[in-house]
Amino acid sequence: MQSDAVQPQATDVSLRADALIDMHELAPYPERPWLATVSTSESHVRLTWENGDEGSYPLIWLRDHCACERCRHPQTRERLVMPLEETPRLSGARVVQGQLQLSWQDEHISRFASGWLHQRRPGYSSPSPLPNTVAWPHGFAAERVRHSDLVAGGEGEQRWLTALLRDGLVLLDDGPLALDEVSRLAQRIGPLRATNFGARFDVVSKPNPNNAAYTAIGLALHTDLPNWRQPPDIQLLYCLKNDAEGGGSIFADGVQVAEALRAEHPAHFTLLATTPIDFRFQDDEQDIGVREPVIDVAPDGRIREIRFNNWIRDTLHLPEALIAPWYEAYAHFWALLNAPEHRISLELKPGQMVAFDNRRVLHGREAFDPSTGERHLQGTYLDRDMLESRLRVLARQG
Ligand code: OGA
Ligand code: ZN
Ligand code: ZN
Repeated sequence: MQSDAVQPQATDVSLRADALIDMHELAPYPERPWLATVSTSESHVRLTWENGDEGSYPLIWLRDHCACERCRHPQTRERLVMPLEETPRLSGARVVQGQLQLSWQDEHISRFASGWLHQRRPGYSSPSPLPNTVAWPHGFAAERVRHSDLVAGGEGEQRWLTALLRDGLVLLDDGPLALDEVSRLAQRIGPLRATNFGARFDVVSKPNPNNAAYTAIGLALHTDLPNWRQPPDIQLLYCLKNDAEGGGSIFADGVQVAEALRAEHPAHFTLLATTPIDFRFQDDEQDIGVREPVIDVAPDGRIREIRFNNWIRDTLHLPEALIAPWYEAYAHFWALLNAPEHRISLELKPGQMVAFDNRRVLHGREAFDPSTGERHLQGTYLDRDMLESRLRVLARQG
């Protein structure tokens, strides 16, 4: 790029205006640093800023990101033009009052705010308001947020969302003992993700259960609905009553345990990650199934998702030579998931809610004795997109 760059053209950095160019972004971008110089070549614009930073932008990128009213809808901020011209031609490039002004040969003029361009210089990624995920350390203790802080919005909501996306699990304390409070909380974040069990479900022992959760038996660690192409991202379980003996909650960070399996026995890990198996739920009305591996690994090796629910594993359709090795790998993963160093236990109290990443964290409960008291949880699901959206919107306030 540098090789075909021509000498910097005239700039008038002396005239810095307070008139910032509106790039039609709702998220704030910094005003500074101001641009210092611009130089152009056949295919690129090269910029330097007052602090010495540099950036080289293909012309097609700049033309594509023009924020004028003809290129961006002024109300919706959506893009209005298709970048079809491979190398649009420039007739001039200037730094005007610290901002970039480009004149194109088709008479179009594009203006770019210097801080906006700086934040987006190729090869640089600007800080995100979303947290990175952090694997559970030994003795992981979930972050706790008070119900009143979450509903006050702002910092409390930010803390709850951040902990949930970072750790995959967060506890809410001191909520009201009100039916459907779980839906009201979820709706603050986004629309409830409905499934074949409804948009909101009650976890109580029922007379004719279609699901192990609706009995009093213990629930071994699992993820919900791995038989769906897109299992629910986030699960909320709100405790209204927990007087029965037993019924404690258990959790394990599935991604962290899968990493432990990868370290301890790479062949077992690979088998679970590369062998799609069938998951299937059936009742009188439904027959919902997918074929996917237990561990989903991204092309870069990162573990993306765990699907684990032994009740709704369907017939294992594998070549004979793979059957015994697959069961061995599955049993190994199961043993690690249940190892005391990987499991945490919680006693949910009425007015507490646990929220967790259903595609990362496995959950379960101990058996309870319904003759000793009542146990009633209400649950719902949310899409992760809505949590990330809330965090970005909250971050706009700085
Ligand atoms: C469920 C579930 C846990 C519990 O409903 O999917 O796992 O504590 N419930 O009852
Ligand atoms: Zn334009
Ligand atoms: Zn469950």
